Amino acid sequence: MVGQTSRNERMNATGQSIFPDRIRAAFAFAGSQLRRLVTEHPDYFPLYTENGKWKHESEAWTNWCEGFLGGMLWILYRQTGDAWWREQAEHYSRLIEHRKTDRNVHDLGFLFLPTWKAWYELTQDSAKNQVVIDAGKTLALRFQPKGRYLRSFVAPDSLFIDIMMNVGIIFYAAQQTNDSKLWQVATDHCLTTRRFLVRGDGSTAHEGLFSADTGEFVQQTTHQGWRNDSSWARGQTWALYGFTTAYQFTQDERFLDTAERCAKFYLDRTPAHGIPPNDWEEPEPRRPYESSAAAIAAAGLLELARTVSESAKADYYRERAFAILATLMRPEFLASETPGWEGILKHGIYHERKGLGVDESVMWGEYFFLVALDKALADLEAP
Ligand code: GLY
Repeated sequence: MVGQTSRNERMNATGQSIFPDRIRAAFAFAGSQLRRLVTEHPDYFPLYTENGKWKHESEAWTNWCEGFLGGMLWILYRQTGDAWWREQAEHYSRLIEHRKTDRNVHDLGFLFLPTWKAWYELTQDSAKNQVVIDAGKTLALRFQPKGRYLRSFVAPDSLFIDIMMNVGIIFYAAQQTNDSKLWQVATDHCLTTRRFLVRGDGSTAHEGLFSADTGEFVQQTTHQGWRNDSSWARGQTWALYGFTTAYQFTQDERFLDTAERCAKFYLDRTPAHGIPPNDWEEPEPRRPYESSAAAIAAAGLLELARTVSESAKADYYRERAFAILATLMRPEFLASETPGWEGILKHGIYHERKGLGVDESVMWGEYFFLVALDKALADLEAP
């Protein structure tokens, strides 16, 4: 088990911060793992490793991860300026363009924000932006007017907390096209999620079920957590980060308050090293860690730090995020000293109940780890 991460761990003997060097080393390792993945398995979009290997035939449950590989390739291009990464990033973005009309998943934000939006930001090419807008409009078609939420991939009566990380692409499409109906869909979805999936103590439920006939809320349930009334760690971090994004778009204080309450629950319930189990309520978790939730939390906390107006709060969120990253960069989590392991970050969990990707590397954990490292480096190097 890992111990507490101290501030000293980020300093060398002369009191100089070694954190940026550790981040650059982690990026270099991530680059070598990703170069091998795209070279050895071209055009392959893995979700999770099995015994540390990306290539296997185990089920996906749902196809939601195809943007994370391209997203990492864009980050590596920005970090290194190496044209090879850009070539790969463009290629892996093109491979998913057709998904902009995919009505089977609720994950179009996960697919298009890390890829085509990153491409647009670099080039300012309106054709790239149009792909993002189209994807946002497709996602909005999942709106259920009676319950006022975007339905999950599972069924029309199902709302997932995960969708909070995708609704941003609808806000974005609405903003770009000045479409007030799209804006309302995104806002209503956030308000419904806040009301029915975020609890009074700041914890979250994975899923809400509604009456398809009337839109009446029926109950909280879970797929990937321990039980219906428990707190699935990754869902908590989707909410923390997602409500921060919703606030950034809307300036609606209700969303910032929700993001902060979700952050507080995460930080209060997680040991100082920053890595939660799969579910905080499970009496004896089968595994001590769900590292992908920690990576998402670190990225979300760094974004929250940039969003809150009080500097003391911002410093607190940034410090907690750095503590999480310091833990994730240790060899127990970073696979740099684990020969033969093909992922970047160990000890992630996809779907414990189904036995999919348990104690493995997971594609979204890799992506949000790089997002968090990228943000941390920018913060540390800011003048
Ligand atoms: N279904 C999205 C997740 O596993 O977080």
